[in-house]
Amino acid sequence: MDIILNRRSVRKFDLTKQVSEEDLLQLCRYAEAAPSARRQKGREYIMIDDKSLIEQLSTVSAGAAILKNCSAVLAVIGKNPDELLTPRMQVQDLSAATENILLGATAMGLGSCWIGIYPIEERTEACNRLLNLSNGTFTFSLVALGYPKEDQAFYDASKLESSMIHHNRY
Ligand SMILES: Cc1cc2nc3c(=O)[nH]c(=O)nc-3n(C[C@H](O)[C@H](O)[C@H](O)COP(=O)(O)O)c2cc1C
Repeated sequence: MDIILNRRSVRKFDLTKQVSEEDLLQLCRYAEAAPSARRQKGREYIMIDDKSLIEQLSTVSAGAAILKNCSAVLAVIGKNPDELLTPRMQVQDLSAATENILLGATAMGLGSCWIGIYPIEERTEACNRLLNLSNGTFTFSLVALGYPKEDQAFYDASKLESSMIHHNRY
């Protein structure tokens, strides 16, 4: 439970420490352990450690600029929705996978930050081009990864407000 409560977005990384390929693979396992509608398999992952590619990805949006300071990126990729049983649930499937990467990274002592890509067309198309995606396959999110540079303030008790909680009916 502490992993869930202590996960925070990390945007400054210690670039002297690399994230290993085995760690990236483990994060892909965590991602794919997430639930999906009717167990459909609409997700794929790209492990990115090429610095010049990361630099290019950092230009796709203002929010992506923090990628310049990370060690590695995991891209969460949506398969062509036309090939899926329940395409309208694909966004939830991809979100669950992205969250699992963030939680898995926290458990492994890695910092992470979700960079929103889909459904903003310019961002999605820019990432698709850089990552060589075609035929309806698309970039859903990028996750910045690395060892945190500073101790972060973790659990934020102010997040859940009493006004957000309802009992039986709204
Ligand atoms: C869909 C989505 C898109 C996000 N996009 C970005 C982004 O582009 N750049 C960024 O620095 N953070 C991004 N974030 C991280 C949020 O800014 C962060 O989760 C929020 O400020 C709450 O802080 P916390 O994660 O530390 O609890 C995104 C988060 C989500 C869920």
